Amino acid sequence: MPSISRRSDQLGTENAFVVLAEVAKLQAAGKDIISFCIGQPDFPTPANIQDAAVAAIRGGKHGYTPSAGIAELREAIAKYVSRTRGIAVGADDVVVGAGAKPFIAYAILSVTDHGAGDEVIYPNPGFPIYESQIRAMGAVPVPIYLRESRGFNFDPAELEAKITPRTKLLILNSPQNPTGGIVPAKDMEAIAAILARHPDVWVYADEIYSRLVYDGAFASLASIPGMQERTIISDGASKTWAMTGWRLGYAVNKALAPVFTRWVTNTESCASQISQWAAVEAISGPQDAAEMMRESFRRRRDLIVGLLNRVPGVTCQSPGGAFYAWPNVTEACRIVGAKDSEEFRLRLLHETGVAVLADIHFGPRVPDEGQHIRFSYAASNEAIEKGVARMADFVRRHAK
Ligand SMILES: Cc1ncc(COP(=O)(O)O)c(C=O)c1O
Repeated sequence: MPSISRRSDQLGTENAFVVLAEVAKLQAAGKDIISFCIGQPDFPTPANIQDAAVAAIRGGKHGYTPSAGIAELREAIAKYVSRTRGIAVGADDVVVGAGAKPFIAYAILSVTDHGAGDEVIYPNPGFPIYESQIRAMGAVPVPIYLRESRGFNFDPAELEAKITPRTKLLILNSPQNPTGGIVPAKDMEAIAAILARHPDVWVYADEIYSRLVYDGAFASLASIPGMQERTIISDGASKTWAMTGWRLGYAVNKALAPVFTRWVTNTESCASQISQWAAVEAISGPQDAAEMMRESFRRRRDLIVGLLNRVPGVTCQSPGGAFYAWPNVTEACRIVGAKDSEEFRLRLLHETGVAVLADIHFGPRVPDEGQHIRFSYAASNEAIEKGVARMADFVRRHAK
């Protein structure tokens, strides 16, 4: 048998997909499972966006497009990012791709060299694709720990300590997956002040949840004077307009746009033309549906956080954005006799039919930060009430 590369062996995965397969198997076997695993809106794509896609299909928009995207979409994104971040972005600075996710790889590929010892600092816990791609691209992963005491942000002083002459890239994610934390404006200022002392470090600002902020305003590092040039803004249609399966995202950076365009030519050729026309409508059309979804997520956040805090042995901060709750279950693990959050998750799934993810699905557990699990609350009120009630019963049963 021909061999498989070491790089492929090292490639990580998104454990949400692994757990989803586990859940699907249990459901197929007739088990009643309430799932809080998947990070996607549970709403259909708004009708005006669907109509724009149908019009594109009927209008013969079937071919390849320029790798960077159709001019109409790049123009619409440039205006949107300029307005929402308070900066001046031109259409030439924008590259469109099949989701925001591919730009994680393109960014690492574009600013690090394989095996050269180039370091990338990334949040832990964090979106698992960061570490997976850093390793697969032959760079050195340098995790920076998010602290519960800081609203699931890292201490800027820890960032300063982690930057070395080999640091090429810092990945920021706000609002954050998996904690729902948001980087407050004062921390952004502190991060910018540190970066000003290290002019050779690029920043990948993963802003895919930029429109799902519930407390205060969304803050982008790129809005701070001096930061735009070195910041790669990444955002997309998936979470804001319930378009995960349409595969439409983008990255914004003047110097790197031509480089990203070459990566797209070498990999995807271009994003789906139909999805691109749909995204023009998503960005430029009425925003009522996006607002309705955001408001609905905010209400569900308040519901789930309130319920989780009534479960014995559980404490849950109110996350400022995205659609994730990240309760601390250290004491609940002790009560039920689970050695850690992963055993707790497995027992919750098999004994009560509630599917969540554990902290270890988002990187190695942070020392001294306890045990956490992740709920995606992009689920109905009924599912949230029933699911958390089952978890409370599970813990209470063992407390007796
Ligand atoms: C932090 C983060 N970045 C990027 C993505 C990918 O988004 P897209 O669907 O645009 O590829 C996700 C999706 O879950 C995410 O949570």
